[in-house]
Amino acid sequence: MYNSRISGLGFYVPENVVTNDDLSKVMDTNDEWIQERTGIKERRHVIKGTDTTTSMGVKAAQKAIERAGIDKNEIDFIVFATLSPDYYFPGPGVLVQRDLGIKTVGALDIRNQCSGFVYGISVADQYIKSGMYKNVLVIGSELHSHGLDMTTRGRGVSVIFGDGAGAAVLTREEDTSKGILSTHLHSEGQHAEELSLIAPGMGKRWVNDIIADVDSGKEDTSYFPYMNGQFVFKNAVVRFSEVIMEGLQANNLGPQDIDMLIPHQANLRISQFIQKKFGLSDDQVFNNIMNYGNTTAASIPIALTEAWEQGKIKEGDLVVLAAFGSGFTWGSVIIRW
Ligand code: UT7
Repeated sequence: MYNSRISGLGFYVPENVVTNDDLSKVMDTNDEWIQERTGIKERRHVIKGTDTTTSMGVKAAQKAIERAGIDKNEIDFIVFATLSPDYYFPGPGVLVQRDLGIKTVGALDIRNQCSGFVYGISVADQYIKSGMYKNVLVIGSELHSHGLDMTTRGRGVSVIFGDGAGAAVLTREEDTSKGILSTHLHSEGQHAEELSLIAPGMGKRWVNDIIADVDSGKEDTSYFPYMNGQFVFKNAVVRFSEVIMEGLQANNLGPQDIDMLIPHQANLRISQFIQKKFGLSDDQVFNNIMNYGNTTAASIPIALTEAWEQGKIKEGDLVVLAAFGSGFTWGSVIIRW
C-alpha cells in the first residue's frame, strides 16, 4: 500500500494586472461593488499573443517539477484540468507533454471547472495508491479573459474571473499516515446550465449556428459564460461545508484539527462564511482572490503554492482543499503534510 504526497508546487500568472478601476472604464461597474460583493481588487489578463492556457500550465509545471527534485522524464502521467483549453480538441494535456519535451507518457484532460484540480488530485492519487505510477503531474490552468463579455451586459461574470495556472507533482509515499489521506468527489448535473458556456457545442449550437445568427443580426450570448450568481452562491456554501465535513469524518477528524483550509477562490464571502461556520481563525484559511480573482481550476494550486511559499504550511499539518463550481461539481482533499 502506498499514499501519494505533494512533492512539488508551482504557479504562474501573466504580468498584466487589471484593476477594478480598469474594468470600470469598459463597463458600468465600480471598485466598491466588486470589492464588497467578491473581495476582488485585481486580476491578471493575458495580453493576446503572449500566453495560452497550455503555456501558463507549462510554466507552473516546470516550477513544480524543479521543486519536486525530479527530472521531467520521471513524470509517469499528466493530468490537466481546465475549462478554457487552447483547442476544442485535442486537450492541453498532450500539448504539455510536447512542450515540456517529456517522453510519451499518458495525458488526461479533466473538465470539471472549479473542481477540476481537486478531481485531478483524486485521479493522480488513485494511480499512485494502486502502484501504477510513481510521479504524476497535475495542472490547473485557465485563460478566461479572451472569452468574457467585457461589456456591461457581462459584468456579473466578467469582473470575477482571472487568468493563471498552478501545478503539483504527486509522488509515491510509503508512509501511509502521510500525504493524501482521502479525496471526496460529487456532482449534481441537474444544475448544469446554472453556470455554463453553452456554445459552441454539439448539443445546442455549433459555430455555424453562431455565425448565422451574428450575420442576421440576432442577439445571442450563448458563447459567453453564464452564471446564476445567487443560486450558485447558495449551493456553494452548503456543498463546501458538506464536503469538508465528509472528508474530516472519513479520517476521524473534526474542524478543530484543520491547520490550513485552501478553498477554491470563488468569492471571499464564501470563504468567510465557511471560516465562520467551522470556527477557524484568519491564519487557518488562505485567501488570495483579492489579487487574482477566480481562476477556476487554477485557483487551488495557485493558493496552495502561495501558502506553502509563505511558510504557512508545515510538515505534519492537516491541509484541506475544497472546491465547488460548474456542473455542479464539488470535492475535497484531506492531506497530512
Ligand atoms: O467559481 C464557481 C462558483 N462561483 C461562485 O461561487 C460565485 C457565486 N456567486 C457570487 O459570487 C455572487 O452571486 C456574484 C458576486 C456573482 C454577484 O453578487 P450578488 O450579490 O449575487 O449580485 P446580483 O447578481 O444579485 O446583482 C445585484 C445587482 C444587480 O443590479 P439590480 O438588478 O439590483 O439593479 C446587478 O445588475 O448588482 C448588479 N451588478 C453589478 N453592478 C456593478 C451585477 N454585476 C455588477 C458589477 N458591477 N460587476
